[in-house]
Amino acid sequence: MSLKRFLAFAATLVLVSGCWSYPADVLEDSSSAVTPDQIGDTGGEDPDLPLVEDATNDNKVIDVVADVASDNKQGGFHPPGWTSPSVHGKAAMLNTMNCTMCHGTDLLGGTTGQSCDTCHDNGWRTNCTFCHGGVDNQTGAPPQSIDGATDAAAGAFPAHGFHVTGNGHALITCVGCHVTPTEVTSPGHMFDDTPGKAEVDLSGGLSPNGKFASMTCSSLYCHGNGQGDNGSVPLNKSDIGCASCHPGPKSSSVALGAMTGRHSMHVKEGVGCYECHSEVFNSQYQPVDGTLHVNGEPNYKLPNGITYNGKGCTGICHGEYHQSPSW
Ligand code: HEC
Ligand code: HEC
Ligand code: HEC
Ligand code: HEC
Ligand code: HEC
Ligand code: HEC
Repeated sequence: MSLKRFLAFAATLVLVSGCWSYPADVLEDSSSAVTPDQIGDTGGEDPDLPLVEDATNDNKVIDVVADVASDNKQGGFHPPGWTSPSVHGKAAMLNTMNCTMCHGTDLLGGTTGQSCDTCHDNGWRTNCTFCHGGVDNQTGAPPQSIDGATDAAAGAFPAHGFHVTGNGHALITCVGCHVTPTEVTSPGHMFDDTPGKAEVDLSGGLSPNGKFASMTCSSLYCHGNGQGDNGSVPLNKSDIGCASCHPGPKSSSVALGAMTGRHSMHVKEGVGCYECHSEVFNSQYQPVDGTLHVNGEPNYKLPNGITYNGKGCTGICHGEYHQSPSW
């Protein structure tokens, strides 16, 4: 949040609650050093929060949280009900106010003394499915989206699953399309200056020159014809067939003519793609080794008896003798 937004927010708070100060007892409690080391397991595993004060437990953290809970009722900084995950969690996800401003850039408490780790389980910061993903697969990719939506079709990018789990093509990890964080507070991740918006950055993958605008990706290698960064695809396209990116076995002569060398001639003569690309697809056009498809280079394996030297072929194939004519 910009300073301006923060001031406006603080002013609203003053209007609504008539006060703007941290409760003194919380500051006292928190200044008596609530550190992650002291937290241990206490309070970490129990999702049934807010926590209640346990007289027999002298752990500082429990006391602080209990104070915080009672302060809420008396009008602490956050409104009543804030400890509910669907309230403070949502505010953090959509970055409606930047938590790091008061709770510290490391979220360990900052000026508030209230660390996020007091309640959250160990490892929450690196658990990529704590906040998004975890529905289709465990990579962290939506669905679930940052607003909590779990319907892939309604999401910003319905095809996440196809990309990140490999689907007849090499695996495209988050890095292919996003600067990828290693934890919650990584730069550019959730506490950046574009609240609630996932940034797309194609520079880390096979389409480093790719562009993303108007819900369309363009100048892509991945959706191109294998001869350059010439592919383009809208985010919501669903019917991606074999001839969407490069020509397929049933494509027109004109389309096949755009492929390199003597593709067109061979395919029109009835030679199947699989006959020269047998390590990638079989005769049923099912992947033999999907990791070789859209991996950044053409992979070919010609039938026994014929060799290709990068210029032309030598040997006998489909009953015809080749003596290094140009490809
Ligand atoms: C302007 C300062 C400020 C900002 C911004 C802020 N907090 Fe707090 N927060 C506090 C203070 C101070 C406390 C200590 C208790 C109190 O005063 O309510 C606190 C306490 C809490 C608590 C303990 C329960 C409670 O209601 O007091 C939670 C949970 C919490 N904050 C979550 C968040 C999240 C999540 C964000 C970001 C979306 C956030 N806070 C942003 C100042 C802030
Ligand atoms: C008073 C205890 C408490 C504190 C303090 C607290 N949280 Fe939470 N938070 C929870 C609980 C409980 C959940 C639900 C956990 C679960 O589902 O496993 C949760 C869930 C969340 C979620 C997930 C929401 C979602 O939609 O999936 C986010 C994000 C979150 N908290 C952010 C924060 C941040 C940031 C802070 C520190 C500024 C913080 N919380 C401090 C109790 C707390
Ligand atoms: C092929 C490209 C691609 C890959 C790979 C990819 N994403 Fe995305 N992601 C996108 C696009 C495009 C958007 C939508 C951006 C927009 O709407 O501005 C998006 C949006 C998101 C969002 C926000 C979605 C929402 O609606 O709230 C999250 C979170 C996200 N991606 C996480 C991930 C994670 C985690 C991975 C890896 C496991 C991943 N993405 C892999 C392209 C990709
Ligand atoms: C505490 C919640 C939380 C956790 C845990 C979390 N993320 Fe995110 N993630 C978000 C939010 C919120 C966004 C939307 C980013 C924004 O507002 O810019 C996001 C966005 C992303 C994006 C889209 C690019 C971007 O930064 O905008 C990727 C990729 C991503 N997260 C990967 C991960 C990975 C990998 C992990 C585990 C190491 C992880 N996330 C853990 C909340 C979280
Ligand atoms: C006669 C053998 C042969 C047949 C049949 C064949 N290919 Fe190829 N293909 C090659 C060779 C050899 C290369 C590598 C070309 C180079 O290195 O310049 C290649 C390269 C490619 C490329 C990279 C881009 C390009 O145009 O060079 C694509 C995409 C491709 N093939 C798809 C197919 C598809 C789809 C079919 C079936 C419709 C097919 N191929 C049929 C031999 C063949
Ligand atoms: C999203 C775009 C896209 C789709 C859809 C697609 N391809 Fe490809 N294909 C490529 C690209 C790009 C290459 C260039 C070589 C590479 O990077 O592997 C390629 C290469 C090939 C090759 C050459 C061998 C190689 O290197 O992988 C064959 C054969 C092939 N594709 C067949 C198919 C078939 C069969 C289908 C449908 C099941 C299909 N393609 C769907 C993008 C696509």
